[in-house]
Amino acid sequence: FVLNGPNLNLLGTREPEIYGTDTLADIEANVRAQGKTLGLAIEFRQSNHEGVLVDWLHEARAKGAKAVLLNAGAYTHTSIAILDAIKAIAVPVIEVHLSDPETREPFRHHSYVGMGAVDVVKGLGAESYLVALEKAAAL
Ligand code: DQA
Repeated sequence: FVLNGPNLNLLGTREPEIYGTDTLADIEANVRAQGKTLGLAIEFRQSNHEGVLVDWLHEARAKGAKAVLLNAGAYTHTSIAILDAIKAIAVPVIEVHLSDPETREPFRHHSYVGMGAVDVVKGLGAESYLVALEKAAAL
């Protein structure tokens, strides 16, 4: 499962100086191509709603997902509900970010997702997803 949180549907036009010019559809295409190479079936989704992301984390467990790549967007820094879901599902979650939140505003320095994730890939732009997928394949 590759789960994307709020505002990531606007990638391509959203603050391109921070997030780059790839759209989420571009990233999805690259992830699917690399998933094929690695022999991984990809479920790629985006929601602007916290509870939907929680539901999808539960679904990842129910469907027996090997791993979840999670770019929770701003919920990374606020959502105890998402942290609790990560802890509840016993599916390894890899935290993903296009930017490196720790080099940005102080309010982005804390990650609830990171408190439950097995690994993090950040600061590589769209490439962060592909590096994270390789890590997932190796789990
Ligand atoms: C982000 C970083 C977050 O701080 C921010 O709220 C996002 C995107 C990233 O991919 O760099 O929405 O997760």
